[in-house]
Amino acid sequence: MSVSRRGFLGVLGGTALGAASFASLVLPGAAGQTAELVRSRARLPEPFTVPLPVPPVARPVRPDHYVITQRAASVEILPGLRTPILGYDGMFPGPTVVSRRGRRTVVTHRNELPVPTAVHLHGGHTPAEHDGYPTDLVLPPDWHDHAGHAGNVASGQRDYVYPCRQRAATLWYHDHRMDFTGPQVYRGLAGFHLVHDDEEDALPLPKGERDIPLMITDRAFEEDGSFAYPALDPSTRVRPGVEDEYMEGVLGDVILVNGAPWPVLEVATARYRLRLLNASNARRYRLSVPGTPLVQTGSDGGLLARPVAHDELTIAPGERFDVVLDLTERSPGEELTMRNLLGSGSTAQVMRFRVTSRVRDDSAVPARLSSVPRPDPADAVRTREWRFTRGDIGDHGGWLVNGAPFDPARIDADVSLGDLEIWRVVSDLHHPVHVHLDPFQVLSRGGDPPAPADAGWKDTVDVRPNEYVELGVRFTDYEGLFLLHCHNLEHEDMAMMSTFRTG
Ligand code: C2O
Ligand code: CU
Ligand code: CU
Repeated sequence: MSVSRRGFLGVLGGTALGAASFASLVLPGAAGQTAELVRSRARLPEPFTVPLPVPPVARPVRPDHYVITQRAASVEILPGLRTPILGYDGMFPGPTVVSRRGRRTVVTHRNELPVPTAVHLHGGHTPAEHDGYPTDLVLPPDWHDHAGHAGNVASGQRDYVYPCRQRAATLWYHDHRMDFTGPQVYRGLAGFHLVHDDEEDALPLPKGERDIPLMITDRAFEEDGSFAYPALDPSTRVRPGVEDEYMEGVLGDVILVNGAPWPVLEVATARYRLRLLNASNARRYRLSVPGTPLVQTGSDGGLLARPVAHDELTIAPGERFDVVLDLTERSPGEELTMRNLLGSGSTAQVMRFRVTSRVRDDSAVPARLSSVPRPDPADAVRTREWRFTRGDIGDHGGWLVNGAPFDPARIDADVSLGDLEIWRVVSDLHHPVHVHLDPFQVLSRGGDPPAPADAGWKDTVDVRPNEYVELGVRFTDYEGLFLLHCHNLEHEDMAMMSTFRTG
C-alpha cells in the first residue's frame, strides 16, 4: 500500500514520466501490499516449465509419532542453480504430516541447524507448552551464545505433542523463533500438517492424488541461486531485523508453489481439491483461474457449511482456502493458468494446469458440507480492541499492538476458557492478524457483514488499511500463554505480537 522512497525513485528513474499519473505508474507493483520488493539477480526460468512437486507425506517411526530433522541443505529451485535452505528434513516445503482427528500426534523435532528454532503448528488446537511460543526454543546441541529471553528452552531436540482434538483442516507448521521468524521461514522452514476426520472422509470431494496442497511463497534470488533476504545479520545468529527500507515487509519477484517457480501440473478431466496456503512472508495474492470458478469448500479451520464460488480469492499470509477446481468439462490440450491479480510482470502468474488425459470422475461438491454454528454476539461477555499500527520502539521504527511492542514478559489479556469474546481488530495498513489456540469467525468487516471469503472458521484474517474487523472468539481446553500477532513476518519480528493468557 505505501510506496517507499526507493520504489518511487525506481519508477521515476526508468520512465519518462510525462503527464502519466502517479497511481497508474506505481500501483501495479505496490497494489494491495504493505511491503517492498527485492529483485532477483539470478537467471529465472520460463514460467510453466518446472513440474509441480508435491511434498512427500512424512512416515511415522511408530504409529502417530514422527521425527523431523531441521537441517541445512542445498536444493535445486531454479533450474541449474543450487539454493542453500534451512529445511525440515532438509526439504522446502518440509514433509507433510498427516493426523487423524482425536489421535494424539507427536513430532520430535531435532535441530541440526546453526540457529535456534521454535516450531508452531499453525491452526493447531495445541496445549501452550507445545505451541511453539517464540522463546520456547530448540537450541542447536552446541549452542552456547544464547542470551536473554528465558523461555522453556530445549537443547538439540524437543517433542511437540498435538492432541488433534479438532476438525479436519489444512494446517501448517513453521518456525516461530522470536525476532527471526521472517528470515528462517524465508529460508525454508515451513511444511503442511493435514488433519483428516470421518465427517470429511464421508463427503465425495476429490481425494488421493486429486487432493493437492499448494504452498504459495514469493522469493528473490541472488545470482548464484541463494535466497536474497535483506537481513541485517544474514547468519540470523545474533542481530534481528531487516534493512530499513524493508521494514514494511519483504516481497520477492519469483512465485514458488511447493518450492517450484511458476510450476505446471498435468491434470485429467476431473475435479481437483486444492489446499491453498499463502506461506509468504508479506505478499498478498488475489488468485484467479480465468474461465473456472474457485469453489471454496474449506477455510483455515476446515469445512464450510456450504460451498462458495469465487471468481477471485484474496489470500493473505497465513491464510488457507480449500477450493475445488472443476476440469471435468475440459479437453486434453487445454491449459488453465492460475493468476495473481495483485501482481504485475513476473508476480502476476502463479502456476498452470495442463489437461493431458480424459477420465471419468465421480467426485462431487455437495451443496451441504458441514455445520458451522455462528457465534451469537449477544452471548459475548466482552469486546476487546486490538490496534495494529506502525510505531516507534526506542530509537527505531517497528510495529505495535495496542501501542506496545511484543514483550514475552508481559501478558496483555486474560481470557476465561469457554467465554465468547468479540475481538475488534483495528489496522493502519495491511495486517494479516492471526490468533493461536482456537479458530474464530468474522462477525463484521468495517461495520458491514463479512465478505464471502470470510466464511467459516478462521485463524487468520486479512485486515486492510484503516479497517476494523470484529471476530467472535472462544478459547477452550488449554490454559496458558498464547499469541495474537500479525502474520506479515517482518511485522511479527519487529514486535507486532501480543500474549494472552487463558485460564
Ligand atoms: Cu503461523 Cu503464530 O503463526
Ligand atoms: Cu498459529
Ligand atoms: Cu502487520
